[in-house]
Amino acid sequence: MKFGHFDDAAKEYVIETPRTPLPWINYLGSQDFFSLISNTAGGYSFYKDAKLMRITRYRYNNCPLDAGGRYYYIKDGDTVWNPGWQPTQTELDSYSCRHGLGYTIITGSKNNIEATLQAFVPVNDKCEVNRIILKNNGTEDKHLDLFSFLEFCLWNAQDDSTNFQRNFSTGEVEVIGSTIYHKTEYRERRNHYAVYSVNKKIDGFDTSRHKFIGMYNGFHNPEAVLAGESRNSIARGWQPIGSHHLKVDLKPGESQSFIFVLGYCENPKDEKWEAPNVINKKPANELLAQFQTDEQVDAKFQELKDYWNGLLTTYTVHTEDEKLNRLVNIWNQYQCMVTFNMSRSASYFESGMGRGMGFRDSCQDLLGFVHLIPARARERIIDIANTQFEDGSTYHQYQPLTKKGNADIGGGFNDDPLWLIAGTCAYIRETGDFSILDEMCAFDSDFSKAVPLMDHLRRSFNYTLTHRGPHNLPLIGRADWNDCLNLNCFSEEPGESFQTFGPSEGPVAESVFIAGMFVKYGNEYADLCEATGLNDEAAKVRAAVADMNEAINGAGWDGEWFVRAYDAYSNPIGSDKNEEGKIYIEPQGMCVMAGVGVDNGKAEKALKSVEERLDTKFGIVLNQPAYTKYHVELGEISSYPPGYKENAGIFCHNNPWIACAETVVGHGNRAFEVFKKTCPIYLEDIGEIHKTEPYVYCQMVAGRDAEIPGEGKNSWLTGTAAWTFTTMSQYILGCQPTFAGLCINPCIPDTLEGYKLDRTFRGVRYHITIDNKAHVQKGVKSMTVDGVAVEGNVITPVTDKTDVDVVVTMG
Ligand code: BGC
Ligand code: NOJ
Repeated sequence: MKFGHFDDAAKEYVIETPRTPLPWINYLGSQDFFSLISNTAGGYSFYKDAKLMRITRYRYNNCPLDAGGRYYYIKDGDTVWNPGWQPTQTELDSYSCRHGLGYTIITGSKNNIEATLQAFVPVNDKCEVNRIILKNNGTEDKHLDLFSFLEFCLWNAQDDSTNFQRNFSTGEVEVIGSTIYHKTEYRERRNHYAVYSVNKKIDGFDTSRHKFIGMYNGFHNPEAVLAGESRNSIARGWQPIGSHHLKVDLKPGESQSFIFVLGYCENPKDEKWEAPNVINKKPANELLAQFQTDEQVDAKFQELKDYWNGLLTTYTVHTEDEKLNRLVNIWNQYQCMVTFNMSRSASYFESGMGRGMGFRDSCQDLLGFVHLIPARARERIIDIANTQFEDGSTYHQYQPLTKKGNADIGGGFNDDPLWLIAGTCAYIRETGDFSILDEMCAFDSDFSKAVPLMDHLRRSFNYTLTHRGPHNLPLIGRADWNDCLNLNCFSEEPGESFQTFGPSEGPVAESVFIAGMFVKYGNEYADLCEATGLNDEAAKVRAAVADMNEAINGAGWDGEWFVRAYDAYSNPIGSDKNEEGKIYIEPQGMCVMAGVGVDNGKAEKALKSVEERLDTKFGIVLNQPAYTKYHVELGEISSYPPGYKENAGIFCHNNPWIACAETVVGHGNRAFEVFKKTCPIYLEDIGEIHKTEPYVYCQMVAGRDAEIPGEGKNSWLTGTAAWTFTTMSQYILGCQPTFAGLCINPCIPDTLEGYKLDRTFRGVRYHITIDNKAHVQKGVKSMTVDGVAVEGNVITPVTDKTDVDVVVTMG
């Protein structure tokens, strides 16, 4: 069942009913000010950091699930309704929600009034704009009351949702004209406040939730709205809100617009304080002055559209498959940008308080957006490197506001260091900017010890090299990519925090997955050494990689597939010898992507085993058979019921590894088949099963052992976005940035006769035509660049032209 449709010309998804299987959300913001907005106008805003600088309040896991947002109530006689249906849930005569790139437009109509909420965060301003347009489509005069509503968060979202004994007494606001200032915490020498304003003269306001809603009412029936009168309340403690009341008279055919702005303001530095709670209104006034007229809002909106259109022209494909075009040209790249901005912190499944920026997550996210905003990728790489430890190991997360490693979580995830090589190499391949390697990066944020980034990469490589176990395979540490495979840990009591086995207690667990990574990213590191003239080092690195390759082919091979790991007692995990969890997806994907076993048939065998044992209608499950009972020696993985999350769920993140691995062995048909299974755009018609947004990937789909196979969870913030984009754009469609230039190496379904790619690479537009009249899956027979035949399949970057035509003939 579908709940809407794609409007590709507008780059929007149009939701046709407010009753989607889950809230279907969008993100507003691209720099510092961000908002989440659902198809019923739920969600919240924050500045830079969803935990420490939360501007509006949101209650996760509420009932109904999505309660709290920027709500606009319309009172028309006795009927009270919202354009987005929530929270009154008054049946609408018509409804649509258009989620676009960085904006959302919700339109509802009731009794001849059409109301549109246009919500966006401008490219360069620290605010969310909500333009409400009310239109009278009837034949009679209308006298309406419009009420705005949002609830302020007292900044630190965690404290806000736990520390009530304090927080019920700290709230402070101020109202001047149509502007509501939220200034809680200002006394404590925090220099920021929030502002919520409308560009018209108001007929009333409220800032006390209690006065506006009433003690025993809810968002769905606020007393002030039912009465048609604001209370003009000033909050003192308790729950500060922002609400404006506007009386609106509309003649038949007439429409009026109201521009609401929710902004974040900071005092200019070194400002003298008039009194402890007197805020400097200048930043707010300057911000609001930019949003007084429709023309101003239109211009800001256009700027936002231009921003996105500009970004998305970097890579576009034109194939006969409109779903594929839609994925590559719009939604996948959009999701890559959102994951770059959010990492794993704030979604409808991530509370914004739990996690900061993941080390491995952010490094992988880079793979998906580096072509869009290389300058910010550069900045991100340096931020990440600054948190690394001297021995090459890393913190697992850092907090975006402070950019410091998160000591509560600590380190010990032994795949983390190698991802820094992956991200940095991707950046240099894209940009050709080797100068990043000279950037001085700190250790554990201590800049007195800074060394060049290249040395950080070397330490990443050496960390894995020098931390190996009895099978010569890398030590897994607390976990590798699979956070839940905790082979050195045990928990005496379910639910108790995990303890770590001491190394003195025997051999420590090893990871074949990290071994695969070491081969893949070790080779990339060797390429980097060669490209920078470090030939001796490159040779040593290649030798170490060859050694690891041998270890994988030896102890890492189980007969029909790659072993997953060795546990702390040196028993294989992900082996036919195990009763449950005989085979895992991760080492098959990573080892084959790295080229392990390609020359000796093991790669083909491993992929065949994946197909036979792990593949399902909805995608490839993580492991089989699922663990049916809790294994203390395996950790969190077996704490999940079979078919969910890391215990035999379909992890969308590593499905593209298999698609990518299939391209390494030349299977274009199979690669595309794997790719399609988890791609949300191809699942639009089964929305009632899949449940999450059809325009973005979710992290996990329930596997075949689950109650409802095919049910998705954890949409939006997942490394899936970057890996699917990398796999599709580089390995299937075959446009691969290399140090030397753009390598064109498609691996496609043999039914595909050809396609066109437009790719901006190092400032030049390449218009690439792929001709596959030969109906092969892989192989470039010839290539011309601006009509001239060239050897091989790498386009050497040009500097003297703006546009270059390339024709590639497969065969
Ligand atoms: C989840 C993992 C996730 C981890 C993050 C675990 O509970 O199952 O998917 O990576 O938490 O900390
Ligand atoms: C989600 C985490 O963000 C990611 O880092 C991890 O690799 C996967 N879960 C798998 O456990």
